Amino acid sequence: MKTETLSQSYLKKAIDLLLAGELVAFPTETVYGLGGLFQNEKAHRAVYDVKGRPQDNPLIVHIGEVTWIQDLVESLPPYWDLLTQAFFPGPLTLIFKRNPSIAPSFCAHLSTIAIRMPSHPMALQLIREVGKPLIAPSANLSGKPSPTQAQDVEEDLGGKIPLIIDGGLCAVGIESTVVSLVGDQPTLLRPGGISKEAIEHVLGIRLLQPLNGKILSPGMKYRHYAPKTPISLFSSKEELLAHVACEKKPLILSYEAAFKGSTSFNAANLYALFREADRNGASSIAILMSESLLQNEALMNRIQKAIS
Ligand code: TXA
Ligand code: MG
Repeated sequence: MKTETLSQSYLKKAIDLLLAGELVAFPTETVYGLGGLFQNEKAHRAVYDVKGRPQDNPLIVHIGEVTWIQDLVESLPPYWDLLTQAFFPGPLTLIFKRNPSIAPSFCAHLSTIAIRMPSHPMALQLIREVGKPLIAPSANLSGKPSPTQAQDVEEDLGGKIPLIIDGGLCAVGIESTVVSLVGDQPTLLRPGGISKEAIEHVLGIRLLQPLNGKILSPGMKYRHYAPKTPISLFSSKEELLAHVACEKKPLILSYEAAFKGSTSFNAANLYALFREADRNGASSIAILMSESLLQNEALMNRIQKAIS
């Protein structure tokens, strides 16, 4: 008797769909991705359509082996080896010069390409078995918080894609850190799952950071990660409590340590809590800005994008 395990059956189905140019949502260690075959016109079009994503916002190419990078890039710039050795697979995306043999239309007509190797075992196995790179933006509708559980993907994309692979909660919970290797010095384009300090430790130099307001990563100009429920930030517990006293159904969030009536959050559950507030019809999300939260660059970036 042939015994088939569930993971094998999902994998076979997912591979067949992807190779046919269909989309499959799958878990990564950061957030769920909306996967499609790279350089496949049908999949490329579908990813933008399904998400409602602006055409000028490029996608990250997800690879199964570091050796796949060579075919995707024009040249291998300084530091690429240090960074891939330290952080691939993992929540780091690197920007390279695009291999000119790749049609510009697959890279939002940019001369660059974003590459990441996820560490989630289901994601890695899927990409390796497909044997080709996959594009995988976060599997949410454009502008909504990224999905950190299968239920979130279902809520945004249910009925629009044929398969969601359920891998439970994402461990990191916010998107990958994006670092460009295209300029003279490695540059931080999006803070994320790996801290700037960890990257600088490996590089032995400081990362450049975009000047205030200057947009280097096309995705940074869009409002992101935002729940429908309005968000307010407070620098003291007293101000926060005065605000929520007038609210019908507030959700009070405090970083790490919760106090009475509040819910503690961190990178791993912030998006899930935003979505929960929308689902439960909360009237307001009130966030206490503690010193330690202000130090967390990736979380502060996501909170600022959610309110701007
Ligand atoms: O953790 C992640 O990175 C998740 C999981 C699914 O892998 N993916 C993700 O993809 O967050 P997405 O499409 O939601 O965000 C990709 C970001 C956008 O801000 C986009 O503008 C930027 O990467 N990006 C992509 N290609 C780029 C390029 N060539 N130059 C600069 N930024 C680029
Ligand atoms: Mg996204």
